[in-house]
Amino acid sequence: MAFYTYILQLQLGGLRMARILSYLKPYRIAVAVALLLMLTELVVELIQPLLMAKIIDKGIMQNDLQEVMKWGGIMVGASFAAFAAGVINSFYAAHVSQSFGFDVRKSLYEKVQSFSFANFNHFPTSSLITRMTNDITQLQNTVFMSLRIMMRAPLLIIGGLGMAFVVNVKLALILSVVAPFLFLFLFWVMGKGGSMFKEVQEKLDAVNSVMQENLSGIRLIKAFVRRKHEVKRFTGTNKDLRDGTIKALRLMEVTMPVLLLIMNLCILGVLWFGSIQVNTEGVKVGEVVAIVNYATRITAAFSIFSWIIMAFSRARASANRVTEVLETEVDLADLWDSRKDLTVNEGKIEFTNVSFQYPGTAEMVLEDISFKINPGETVAILGATGAGKTSLFQLIPRLYDVTGGIVKIDGHDVRKMKMENLRRKVGFVPQEALLFTGSVKENISWGKEDATMVEITAASVNAQIHETIMNLPQQYDTRVGQKGVNLSGGQKQRLSIARALVRMPKILLLDDSTSALDMKTEAKLLGALKEYTCTTLIITQKISTAIEADRILLLEDGKLLAEGDHDSLLKTSGLYKRIFQSQSGEENRNYA
Ligand code: CTP
Ligand code: MG
Repeated sequence: MAFYTYILQLQLGGLRMARILSYLKPYRIAVAVALLLMLTELVVELIQPLLMAKIIDKGIMQNDLQEVMKWGGIMVGASFAAFAAGVINSFYAAHVSQSFGFDVRKSLYEKVQSFSFANFNHFPTSSLITRMTNDITQLQNTVFMSLRIMMRAPLLIIGGLGMAFVVNVKLALILSVVAPFLFLFLFWVMGKGGSMFKEVQEKLDAVNSVMQENLSGIRLIKAFVRRKHEVKRFTGTNKDLRDGTIKALRLMEVTMPVLLLIMNLCILGVLWFGSIQVNTEGVKVGEVVAIVNYATRITAAFSIFSWIIMAFSRARASANRVTEVLETEVDLADLWDSRKDLTVNEGKIEFTNVSFQYPGTAEMVLEDISFKINPGETVAILGATGAGKTSLFQLIPRLYDVTGGIVKIDGHDVRKMKMENLRRKVGFVPQEALLFTGSVKENISWGKEDATMVEITAASVNAQIHETIMNLPQQYDTRVGQKGVNLSGGQKQRLSIARALVRMPKILLLDDSTSALDMKTEAKLLGALKEYTCTTLIITQKISTAIEADRILLLEDGKLLAEGDHDSLLKTSGLYKRIFQSQSGEENRNYA
């Protein structure tokens, strides 16, 4: 097993492989059995030319049918043993490789689940998908093939050479001069292929990324009549992939004929030199036949080898891409000294001199922001697009860490709380409503796994979506998403609000979640929210929504410009007054 891993590592190159190969450890017994069976096949393959030589020299040349039958019988028996070993080996190889793939995929999936928002900014979704599917399949196939035939190729070459020496030293010398050169040649090809296939994989990423964007934006593309443009963009990346793959494959295609040419010349040499020796030095014909037979088998092994190299080059690229994800440091985790006993009880929120920039960017998105929100208060956050409203929200459930300052909930730094305890008490309705494939009921109870039907209905009634749901074909059991009904933007928004409400959160964060609602429905919704004893933050661009809140925070360019209720802001903030006037249709009068 250790030897197997070592060889595999050597061929795959780099210690990074060790990490992937460690996934084979639980299956070491199955690997050992598979390798043993493979060795059985190998031994049979190696003695076959020897048996053939015996049939020729002892049987056919002496006209002794008895000997032919005897050695022929052994040969048939050995072949059957090899056949059986091959079948069982296949079984084990499949078991090991599939389990290995399953385990790696599982780890990768778990890792991605633990990713922070910042980590996701680093890996595009399409690339994660390619890594989880294509790259792992590549690795899985390589493990299967290496257990089934790959290891046999190098051993067959070495063993074949050894056996050739047993049969006839002088003839074997011809073979052994050529073999090392071929080995070196192949290793060189392997190095070259590795980097080429890495590029291929990256190009595949690009194709997937364009494809994903296209599929998710297909309506937009149609609405903007940008089909031609997108087709061109897709064709571009697709061509890139094709050209890259062809270039890499071409290297492999050249390798094969070079190998065959050299080995065939070598066989010619054996035949020519062998026939001289048969005539002059009484070398047996069977011996020459056996050596030629070894030479053809070695040739076959070498050609498998070039194919193996291609597979390994690809596998190496894939292994690197998988480990890259596995080795990514999740930058947002519970701190070692986070306190288990802290939860959100009241819902008091306090920002002190908070500044924030997205990891890996240079620009400050929030600067020196300080405010306090009391438990149960409803606060509107008003600001133009790009002002930093969503960014501010994300700091509350600690989806990102602050760059400077402190965010406190109930008097405790959010970094001191266990993320699970913190996020469990926060109802977050993101700016873009997202529904999962499943029933309406499942989508709402997604916010609280053990929610009863009463809780689900109550949340829906308050989110002003209950009536809509009752008009759906199967009410709460209606499927949404794939193969289900489609909901309007506003319906989706309210469904996501219901999902947040069913958790009975202590802090409710609504990110522009009422933008698609008409005034009447919105007023009803805001009224219903008053029933909840939770601190509510509402991001909005509409003054009419903001007026309903106890207090308004006015954000501009990442700075907290003003805070207060509607009346006081009208007096103190020029910007607020301008927004108010523009939204109440007084703009024109102002400029008149
Ligand atoms: N930003 C960023 N990286 C992100 C998200 C946002 O660098 N992953 C930057 C944007 O370029 C923007 C600033 O952060 O300049 C504020 O973004 P955001 O908080 O999302 O603005 P909102 O006020 O929420 O704007 P909108 O009303 O359009 O949602
Ligand atoms: Mg936003």
